Amino acid sequence: MERDIDRILLSREQIHERVRAMARDIAKVYEGSDAGLTIVPVLSGSIIFLADLIRELPLKMKIALLQLSSYRGATTEGAEIRTVLDLVGDVAGRHVLIVDDILDSGRTIRHVQKRIWAKGPASVRTAVLLRKPDRAPPDIRVEHIGFDIEDAFVVGYGLDYDDHYRNYPHIGVLKPEVLLVGQD
Ligand code: IMP
Ligand code: MG
Repeated sequence: MERDIDRILLSREQIHERVRAMARDIAKVYEGSDAGLTIVPVLSGSIIFLADLIRELPLKMKIALLQLSSYRGATTEGAEIRTVLDLVGDVAGRHVLIVDDILDSGRTIRHVQKRIWAKGPASVRTAVLLRKPDRAPPDIRVEHIGFDIEDAFVVGYGLDYDDHYRNYPHIGVLKPEVLLVGQD
């Protein structure tokens, strides 16, 4: 696995520190909310971020899973967004925090936000660990952003290439030859 990584962009320590700071900000937002909080993680890319983030949040919460799949491969454009697993859990009348790994073209977040709003929540906010600012459309609202990164294909800390590398503890840039070989 390690030999497929070109360079580390964010170390596990850097990520951990930032996730803790994000959790402090998020906790302030929901402190004292009467309606309950429901976290909606977008699977599978958000799993590690989710696990670290929620353990830093001293709030009562429910978790409603949503698994989507878009085109798999080096790039993420094209193809429609398919629902693999639909929301389970309470959203109507509750404060919803969408949690995803990365804001790239914005198609996924836009889709999820629309879908959550249709269920009548009390409020909707979104937290992503990474954003590629060169690509993210300016009209998408994401209240909590971990890091702005360059427009490179990254893996690790939940992010995959062809479903691999999610367990790599840092966030790294894949070697270009791996992306080419992986196109099967
Ligand atoms: P979108 O283009 O913003 O809709 O992003 C779609 C999905 O593509 C994200 O939730 C990620 O799972 C995946 N994705 C986008 N950029 C990367 C990347 O650099 N590495 C790994 N996955 C990515
Ligand atoms: Mg992915």
